[in-house]
Amino acid sequence: MTTLASSAAADATTVRAPREAPAIRLSGVTKTFGSITVVHPIDLRIEDNEFFSILGPSGCGKTTLMRMIAGFETPTGGSIELAGRSVESLPTRKRDLNMLFQSYALFPHLSVRDNIGFELKVRGRKRYPERDAAIDEALALVHMERFADRKPNELSGGQRQRVALARAVVSRPSVVLLDEPLGALDQQLRKEMQVELKRMQREVGITFVYVTHDQEEALTMSDRIAVMSEGRVQQIDAPRAIYDHPANRFVAGFIGTCNLLDGVYHSTPAEATVDIAGVGSVGASVGAASAGESVTLAVRPERLRLRAGSAGGGEIAATLLDAVFLGDEWRYILRAAEGVQLIATRPSHSSDDELTRLAPGDVVAVSWAADDARVLAS
Ligand SMILES: Nc1ncnc2c1ncn2[C@@H]1O[C@H](COP(=O)(O)OP(=O)(O)OP(=O)(O)O)[C@@H](O)[C@H]1O
Ligand SMILES: [Mg+2]
Repeated sequence: MTTLASSAAADATTVRAPREAPAIRLSGVTKTFGSITVVHPIDLRIEDNEFFSILGPSGCGKTTLMRMIAGFETPTGGSIELAGRSVESLPTRKRDLNMLFQSYALFPHLSVRDNIGFELKVRGRKRYPERDAAIDEALALVHMERFADRKPNELSGGQRQRVALARAVVSRPSVVLLDEPLGALDQQLRKEMQVELKRMQREVGITFVYVTHDQEEALTMSDRIAVMSEGRVQQIDAPRAIYDHPANRFVAGFIGTCNLLDGVYHSTPAEATVDIAGVGSVGASVGAASAGESVTLAVRPERLRLRAGSAGGGEIAATLLDAVFLGDEWRYILRAAEGVQLIATRPSHSSDDELTRLAPGDVVAVSWAADDARVLAS
């Protein structure tokens, strides 16, 4: 019975039409400048209406990748498809996309309304009702209706940013490429705009590809994140999965704060441990490593359990170097052995009086649940 059902399902699969093409597909895309390869072969599939971020440190190839998708750079190898169509011979203006960069130049002599409508005008869309309706909609989307008749120099940085955003989506392209668009704004405004951007993207249902080197920004907004380092994609996943299950040492260290400890892996079928020089044997999640292999143990600061006093069984002895108050949390800097520092955090509202009384030089005991310590290949 089961066999029949599953073979019927398999038949249905083979005759079904191919899945709808993704918004963007990169297949083996590379870029070399002179003798230097800045993008190694990248395969990537970005779905329709997805908020997809490309996250990585300065110089890792993010902008180069975006410029290839936009058509400002030609890939050295591989192919790029937009909505299932190869764009090899398509110039930028023929690609169904728009861009928003950090240095978004608004026309100083044009009003907000005319800045937003400029591209529609160039494309020959009728002023009334077509163009006006699209502009009104875009103004409402960024909450800038009241500023429609102002000139850019009569706006704050954040307001100018909204106008640039409205301009990028007014023609309803399938894809908007955003390269560090919030870089020039102060921290407070950045945080507000992050929430706004995500709301807008959901409202208009456009695929956003968002480049940033700010991990908090990527975690806040994205459906999925591609973490890049030195021209290679290290991991592609949802924010939570990247934070909880980093694929390697680079990702663990780049996303959030992470205690990274070098050691040697040992395991039985039931449990795993890692021997750390000067510290001893500590609990770890059962990993893909083999016994005796050198590994990195990754433990998030919020997963560390702290107790004032000397260490008992299954605990690590440490000395408190500093306790830093950061508003929403306390950050404890600990020394577990020569060259082995640990960072632990606690919400500042926690009522753990014993910990708030700790002073530098005090002895503490540290532990963690084995499942919270991930084993990564060194
Ligand atoms: N036209 C070019 N000619 C030669 N090298 C280039 C060119 N454009 C970029 N590069 C190099 O390619 C690498 C990747 O640059 P890219 O601008 O893509 O980095 P990025 O990840 O966007 O960095 P940032 O976060 O600083 O903007 C850098 O080492 C850069 O110097
Ligand atoms: Mg860049």
